[in-house]
Amino acid sequence: MNSDDFMDVLRTCCSREQYDALYRESVEDPQNFWAKVAREFHWEEPWKSNVLAFNFNVDNGKVDVSWFAGGKTNMAWNCIERNIQNGCGEQTAFIWEGNNLGEEGKKTYLELQADVNRLANWLKSAGVKKNDAVIIYLPMIMELPVAMLACARIGAVHSVVFAGFSSEALAQRLLGCKAKVVLTCSAVMRGSKHINLKGVVDEACDFAAAKDHAVDHCLCFINARLNSDNHLTQSRDKHWQNEVDQLPRDCETEWMDAEDPLFMLYTSGSTGSPKGVLHTTGGYMIYAGATCASVFNMRQGDVFWCTADCGWITGHTYLTYGPLLNGATSIVFEGVPNYPDAGRCWNIIDKYKVKTFYTAPTALRALQRYGDDFVKAYKRSSLKILGTVGEPINPEAWQWYFNVVGEGRCPVMDTWWQTETGGHMITPLPLAIEQKPGSATLPFFGVEPVLLNENGVELLDEAEGYLCFKTPWPSMFRTLFADHQRYEESYFSMFKGYYFSGDGAKRDADGYYWITGRVDDVMNVSGHRIGTAEVESALVTHAECVEAAVVGIDHPIKGQSIYAFVTLRESCELTNSTRKALVDCVRAMIGPFAAPDTIQRAPALPKTRSGKIMRRILRKIASREEESLGDTSTLADPTVVDTLVELRDK
Ligand code: WT7
Repeated sequence: MNSDDFMDVLRTCCSREQYDALYRESVEDPQNFWAKVAREFHWEEPWKSNVLAFNFNVDNGKVDVSWFAGGKTNMAWNCIERNIQNGCGEQTAFIWEGNNLGEEGKKTYLELQADVNRLANWLKSAGVKKNDAVIIYLPMIMELPVAMLACARIGAVHSVVFAGFSSEALAQRLLGCKAKVVLTCSAVMRGSKHINLKGVVDEACDFAAAKDHAVDHCLCFINARLNSDNHLTQSRDKHWQNEVDQLPRDCETEWMDAEDPLFMLYTSGSTGSPKGVLHTTGGYMIYAGATCASVFNMRQGDVFWCTADCGWITGHTYLTYGPLLNGATSIVFEGVPNYPDAGRCWNIIDKYKVKTFYTAPTALRALQRYGDDFVKAYKRSSLKILGTVGEPINPEAWQWYFNVVGEGRCPVMDTWWQTETGGHMITPLPLAIEQKPGSATLPFFGVEPVLLNENGVELLDEAEGYLCFKTPWPSMFRTLFADHQRYEESYFSMFKGYYFSGDGAKRDADGYYWITGRVDDVMNVSGHRIGTAEVESALVTHAECVEAAVVGIDHPIKGQSIYAFVTLRESCELTNSTRKALVDCVRAMIGPFAAPDTIQRAPALPKTRSGKIMRRILRKIASREEESLGDTSTLADPTVVDTLVELRDK
């Protein structure tokens, strides 16, 4: 069988009939369907006869999913050597566009191979072995995807921490996986802001040391574009360029079992501390490759720009792995969309002849505000496909994206998925699925969404309910790092036998899905997923704050904005300086992106008789919708509502 065929079938699926037929095949015989996809990749050893084994039902024992068990492969090999063997060694793998105009760089697949291997050799010399965790705390420079691939090369498990997280948050993640090695950078500019990353890492390492965990090696990339002080002050500190550049450019590939871990990535849940979502190798790899090919019609040599940071799942699947698996050229952009002005994105698109642009609705809403002239100043004639991800896209932003940015000729892929799902789940296909603005449309191949009511009954036809999935897809997460029980409790216990996404959705008469947003206590601020519990625990670290409850309320640009209700100690007043100090607690414990926009005094919070905070009521008060509070009969003290409404503007 010509192994290039099936990927091309997915890539060129160009009518609704074709989609329907392929979709039917994928859910009727998933093992055969995904085996056909998997054969497109390099396997050092084939998988055993059983492609898929799983149990989704907690009543039948441990929740467990395994794809391609026994097969041996390697992500870095498939991203790099596979392309070099196909004759793409001289083609550009990554384009880097710096924060300031004029800062740029390129890396071919051959150069990438050398850089990945040098760093992999350094990791080995630092004692990193297969299955060891490595923390990556880097800005958007090419060393970030290189670091991910270097870990993949030797079978180390990377845990990328978004470089906007604070030292406390970084320490928490360091302690979580007991990483002995941290890869970082001296400092970086984002827009006009200077960010001292190494300082954050130092604090995090000191914090970890105080909890009896020593980081042995901190490899620091020295950003020569910024005059920085000597960042290498600790014995664990190593100078990236000095150490790595002299190492050999060959490194043996560690062949991994399909179910060996590839990476973990922390994300927020509705309660408790962040969860270490763990992805494995084989299934994640083929799904990243297949969704990129199909949803973005991606071909070898295409210039693809995903604006996400590698600190989030989108940057893993659709900036790093997916594009390389398709032999494409992927853009790493260090800056922000409105610096030096709001035309930056369109300028980059023209400069590199970007075919596919993939971004978040929040960025579009922010750019839309600056007016169309910034867009029209550039040609954008290379664009063929547009994509969005991260939150529901409102019809105004969709129309602007489609009509102004894409001039009505580029379909918009509104892709619904999650850190946990690893890749696209509900999404249009550019040539096969007719769009409806605001709908993520139909399930990707092999994905079986269901809408359940609160009793766990599957709703058919037109309906609205909890968005769940009946069967596994290859790139689903396999566990939460070191906490399989929490995995089962958070995702498989609410509805027995189903994966519960945490989102609500509607299905229309045409079978299209419309995501209505989170139904749990997870907020989405500018595409960042933030747990209410995390912000609340940060607020109560302030000495004067005894209790806090936060909710997300609608915001025209950010999607949601964080509104905090705080109960202060008796005799303490909520002055402006207290407000600032409270915000600083959140910035210190999580990061600036999680800072509440509004803080209101709450002598008491609305609670049920059993003491549970009723966030639904707080959301109504914060949104000035107290006329439609709904059922308040379970409130222990109904007068609390009036007090909070009265204090709202004080
Ligand atoms: C949550 C997952 C997937 C990568 C980025 C976010 C929301 C995501 C969409 C969309 C409506 C969306 C959901 C989901 N979400 N994409 N196209 N339409 N909502 O990953 O941080 O894991 O967040 O983002 O609420 O549960 P994440």
